[in-house]
Amino acid sequence: MVMISTPKYIDTTWDFRYANTKEYTHCFHNYPAMMIPQIANKLINLYGKNAKTLFDPYCGTGTSLVEANLKGINAYGTDLNPMARLIAEAKTTTFELQILDLYLKEFNDFIFSLNFGIEKINIVFPNFKNIDFWFKKETKEKLANIKYFINNIKDERVKKFFLVVFSETVRESSLTRNSEFKLYRMSEKQRENFNPDVYGMINSKLARNRIGLKDYLEQKKIVQKQTFVALILLKR
Ligand SMILES: C[S@@+](CC[C@H](N)C(=O)[O-])C[C@H]1O[C@@H](n2cnc3c(N)ncnc32)[C@H](O)[C@@H]1O
Repeated sequence: MVMISTPKYIDTTWDFRYANTKEYTHCFHNYPAMMIPQIANKLINLYGKNAKTLFDPYCGTGTSLVEANLKGINAYGTDLNPMARLIAEAKTTTFELQILDLYLKEFNDFIFSLNFGIEKINIVFPNFKNIDFWFKKETKEKLANIKYFINNIKDERVKKFFLVVFSETVRESSLTRNSEFKLYRMSEKQRENFNPDVYGMINSKLARNRIGLKDYLEQKKIVQKQTFVALILLKR
């Protein structure tokens, strides 16, 4: 019997093993089955070079929307999951960094005055089933303090930015085993030793996402300038 082996063709142009998948606002919040931005970027380059609009009906957290926006393409997305929609909105909403910085400073002052007993607020705990199964008392209090601050943010764009960071903090400071998407509680031993620094956690996520937003805004500005220059050259 003669064996005929079909030649294998390996296309390494789709290999993004070493790429940074968390640039720009892609660093905001994890989500199940996220597409890496390099795939969206390559598909847009291949099939949507002169596109004016991109529509992603199952946009999840908006990877394709961010990539389209970074190329100066208008992007629209829909998704069944309100959490995905919130993240996608936060990742594609633009506003001046100075506005965010004012709120970040206010937040730091708020946490400082809570830590030093300068400010006392009437904490209202959310009342959902099994809350004590998933959160330690101290964590619950700190999360409620943060939520109080977020509820009072007037600027809806900034509020979304904070809510996305809050969501990750809730998950990470809970007694959930963080390595899995499904909800399993830590073992008794793990729970005993688990004392999350809730304010530290949220602050490092706020700082990370601020950098992501800054890079996103800068890149968008560069593309806008390039489009503007190209239009002028075309009109000549
Ligand atoms: C694999 S995820 C997309 C992830 C996205 N590419 C990203 O990078 O974040 C698929 C999405 O489809 C959404 N979905 C499933 N059925 C849907 C439907 N009938 N209409 C709208 N969205 C739907 C899910 O909520 C989920 O967010």
